Order: sequence, then structure tokens, then C-alpha cells
Amino acid sequence: MADTRKTDEPLPSAARAAMERLNDEAKGLHIWLRTAANAPAQKPWFRDGALDEGGTLASGRVAAGQLKTLPHLWRWREIGPYLDRIAAIAKDADVPPIAFADRQQFLLTNPGLGGRLQVSSVIRCAISIYNAGDVAPVHRHTPNASRTILSAKGGYTTIEGERCVALRGDLIFTPTGTWHDHGNADAEPVVWADILDWPLLEYLDCSWLDDEYPGTLDGNARAQVETHAPGYSQRLYGAGGMVPSFVPHQRGVWYDTTPMFHYRGTEIRETLEGLKGEAGDAYEGVRLRFVNPVTGAAIFPTLDYSAQLLRPGEATRWKRETASTFYIVLEGKGATEVGGKRLDWEENDFFVVPNFLWRRHINAGPGDAVLYAVSDEPLMRKIAQYRAQGRLADDAVVELAP
Ligand SMILES: [Fe+2]
Repeated sequence: MADTRKTDEPLPSAARAAMERLNDEAKGLHIWLRTAANAPAQKPWFRDGALDEGGTLASGRVAAGQLKTLPHLWRWREIGPYLDRIAAIAKDADVPPIAFADRQQFLLTNPGLGGRLQVSSVIRCAISIYNAGDVAPVHRHTPNASRTILSAKGGYTTIEGERCVALRGDLIFTPTGTWHDHGNADAEPVVWADILDWPLLEYLDCSWLDDEYPGTLDGNARAQVETHAPGYSQRLYGAGGMVPSFVPHQRGVWYDTTPMFHYRGTEIRETLEGLKGEAGDAYEGVRLRFVNPVTGAAIFPTLDYSAQLLRPGEATRWKRETASTFYIVLEGKGATEVGGKRLDWEENDFFVVPNFLWRRHINAGPGDAVLYAVSDEPLMRKIAQYRAQGRLADDAVVELAP
């Protein structure tokens, strides 16, 4: 006889126990006899939850092993000193950490994701330190990656023969399938944040890494020889609305990747400054997106990069979307309210806003605040799952996308 109950009301205990015994018996066959109601984690998108409503886990068997990104803030003043500590160990070590760990860095772990090396379902972030003379040998991989420079000087990354010497606030992109190596040719250590879509590619089981570079190496350093004069990306693509017609725009072995590898922090800041007098976006402040200059598409097929400026006293309206966003605080002081939490941030802090939760940003400092953001919106759009809503001043909810 069919059971018509639609809730997770438990079965009569004897029947349930009998079925669980069957489950025990059958588990070696890799099947699960359904003994519980299962519900997904999210509520229907069109049901407006309260502003402070956080995410919940699914119920039933679906919830077993389920992980959910939580809003979280990593404070630089708490985590930053660990870089100095690992650098100090490396300085006098018999075997430097880079020799056994490949990189000197710490990775950010989201408290909702069970210790996995990821800040959201798609994004991984590592904070790296390179001492004078450190080199990360040339390699390429399927995950897309970027570097956001945090120290005053930022070492260099050579990508497909273009050597990008970086400073604070610079963004360097190493798209899927591009050969790249990193290093620090200066006297002082340099620090940057690596951001990658590695967790997604790992989940999809299409993550690979290749370190057999076929080209000429620069001495014993296992680094690429420069094949372009400095500033190649800027010369080709640095002028808005103009694209050279004599290069293929394809760099690396993969496809749909941006050929522009290096954005300078000073130029990003100047562009934001020049737009400060505009109205901006009520939900984002004065915001710039970085795009593939040839197609106008997001920097990576999976990730969208942007920089935004909040003017003194500015508070955005509430917004929620089906994408998760990871932020780096480049400048200023403020707060982001998300899912009933208030994340008070200052320079060099990092925070994550999970999908579906209402959030707003507030500049609480005396000067401008500048945030760099990375979002998985392009991925969500590609699978036709991107939606965004905002709240007007009278609290009415409006559709922002699609
Ligand atoms: Fe890499």
C-alpha cells in the first residue's frame, strides 16, 4: 500500500528498523534503500526570507556529508603573522618549507566546508609569501588562477613568455592551460593572494597539472625565458575599445581564456577615482568589471573579477544572488552584513558572501573603501541558474537578473 505522507514523518519504527537492516545487508552492493524523506538545502528562490536568514543544510540522507559555504571573515591582523612565521622557519631551515610543501603559503578554509581547501563551493584562496630568490618552477594546469598583490612589491609571474613584474593592487591572470612561473627577484619578501577555481575542477575530475615545459629554460631556475618585452598585455589590450588585429588573441593551449594577463593596481585605482563622481550602482557602489578585452566575456569561464569603490558614508542596498563572492579589502574600513552576521573588515582582510543570502556593504571609515571581488556568476549563468534580487529603500524586492 502506498504511503502518501509528504513530510519527513518517520516510518513506524519496526518497518523502518527492518529497512535499515536491509540497508546494512545491501551496502556492499552500493545501493541505498530509501528510509528517509530528503529535502534540498535551499528554499524556493522567489520566497523572500528575512534579511538575517542564513543558509541551512538539506535534510534526510541528502544531508549526509553535505557541506555549505558560510559567511566568513579572515582578519589580516590574525592570519598575516603566520606568513612571517613560515618565512622565518624557511630562512634558517635545513630543508626550506618550499622544498617539501611546493609553496610557502596558507590556504583559507571556510568553516562550513569541513576543512576542505576552499572558501566557497568553487573558489580556493591561498596567501603566498616568496622570499628573495624564491622561484616556483614553470607549470600549467586546468584550473584558472589569479594573483592579487598585497605587498608593496609583488615579485613577478611569467605567463606564456610575458614577464609581469607586479606591485600592490595588481591583478595577474594565469588562465587554464597557460605556462607560468613565479618568483621574487627583490630583496624583501613579497605576498599575494592566489585565487583559483580548483575545487570545482577537482569536483568535476578534470583537474590536471603539467610541469614538463617544452621550451627553453632560464638557467637552473626552471623558469621561462622572456619572449615578449615588458608590458606586452598593456600594449596590446590596455587601451579601452581598441584591439590589435595582428595577433591570434589565443594564449596557451586551452580556449575561451583572456589574453590580457596583467592589470596594474595604480590604473585600477585611477579608473575608480575617475568614476567617483558618477552615481554608481545602488547595490555595488562604483564598480568595474575586468573582462576578456576581445570578447567582453568574464575573465574566466567560471569566475568574474571586479573592483569596487565605496565612497565615505556610502552603504549599498541589500542584494542577494545565486552566486558566491569572495572579497579582498584593498583599502579602507567597513562592514558587510550578510545572513544575520556583520563582518567588520579593514585593509587586507578577506571575506566570503555565500549564494542566496541577503547582503549589503557599508563604508565605515573616513576615506574611500576599495574591494576586489571574485564571483562564480559566469558559471551560474552558463548553467542557467543565475538570479539576483535587490531591496529598494521601501524594502520592496525587485528582480535584478536575469
Ligand atoms: Fe599554477
